[in-house]
Amino acid sequence: MTNAQKWVAAFLFLFVALFALSKVTKNGGDEYNDLEYIMNNSSNEEIDAPTLISNLGCAKCHGENLDGTSKGPNLRGVGENWTRNDLINYFRNPSSYGKGTRFDEYRKIYPIEMRSFNSVELKSLGKIADYILKLK
Ligand code: HEC
Repeated sequence: MTNAQKWVAAFLFLFVALFALSKVTKNGGDEYNDLEYIMNNSSNEEIDAPTLISNLGCAKCHGENLDGTSKGPNLRGVGENWTRNDLINYFRNPSSYGKGTRFDEYRKIYPIEMRSFNSVELKSLGKIADYILKLK
């Protein structure tokens, strides 16, 4: 082998090695994203109602124990006024489902109406509804 041939061989080797390395690091990256995706989705599956309630900020208005603050009413015992379906619909659209004298009173007391949670997955709203229906 001449010197020139050695240099060409060395560059070829380097090129192949770098190419292989870039493949490996890229695959590593994809695996990480897939893992993250799976982790996010499986944690959504397992998330319980109290965590959802705290993550969605319900406690800011209804209190840590859901027994009310100056921004929102006590939720303990309100379950007896609701069917599961209506409660889920209320979360999605409070102004059309929050009706009756209880709500007329609420609107006098609380400066800001409850906001709609229609972007939250139905399954999560169902979990929250089940929890509030049983809350004593
Ligand atoms: C910005 C404050 C605020 C936030 C955040 C909030 N609420 Fe409310 N909520 C209210 C107010 C005020 C009312 C009174 C009625 C109305 O405004 O619609 C209410 C009413 C309710 C009622 C009906 C009470 C009854 O007497 O039947 C339920 C149930 C409820 N909220 C649950 C929740 C849940 C669950 C969350 C979180 C996903 C939440 N709220 C987030 C302020 C809030």
